[in-house]
Amino acid sequence: MTSLVVYYSLTGKTRLAAQAIAETLNAPLVEIQETRPIPVPFVYISGGFAAFTNRGRNICPMEVDIKQYDRIFVGSPIWASRPAPAVNSFIYQTDFDGPDIVPFFTMGGDNAEKALANITAKIEKSRGKVAGSFAITSYKMSGEEIIARAKEAIKKFSS
Ligand SMILES: Cc1cc2nc3c(=O)[nH]c(=O)nc-3n(C[C@H](O)[C@H](O)[C@H](O)COP(=O)(O)O)c2cc1C
Repeated sequence: MTSLVVYYSLTGKTRLAAQAIAETLNAPLVEIQETRPIPVPFVYISGGFAAFTNRGRNICPMEVDIKQYDRIFVGSPIWASRPAPAVNSFIYQTDFDGPDIVPFFTMGGDNAEKALANITAKIEKSRGKVAGSFAITSYKMSGEEIIARAKEAIKKFSS
């Protein structure tokens, strides 16, 4: 089964998880980047508000043909119990018809239920079928721990 890993990360934690998944599954890794990243001091207010209201942010063009893959992992930090705005933009602009979609999160807390329901609804609206998901708590975790948790979480997808 061929996989692709697409992710957005502000402070590097989702990136670590995405890299570990891509390496384990021998999958290409694609980063979602904002054209004008929100300056970190403003991110809790303007980024959190954009996430809370399900908005997108302008993202750089992405050369990715998801139809070439059997499964797409879509990684995001949780912001305001939702996916980050840049990930919303990727989902809104993508026709997910075809591959299995596996959203995953890193988060400061320990409850991803709302974020998973939210991203699942958005993916389905873009014609995607969600085939599993997972979330990793990053609070007080070392990079090694985040990587280990990501590798553990994808054992069930390792085919
Ligand atoms: C604007 C903002 C809002 C956040 N909201 C939540 C939240 O609602 N729940 C949660 O568990 N973590 C929340 N976090 C923490 C991040 O999800 C967590 O630190 C994540 O691992 C960061 O990933 P990154 O390093 O890839 O950006 C928030 C962080 C930011 C910047």
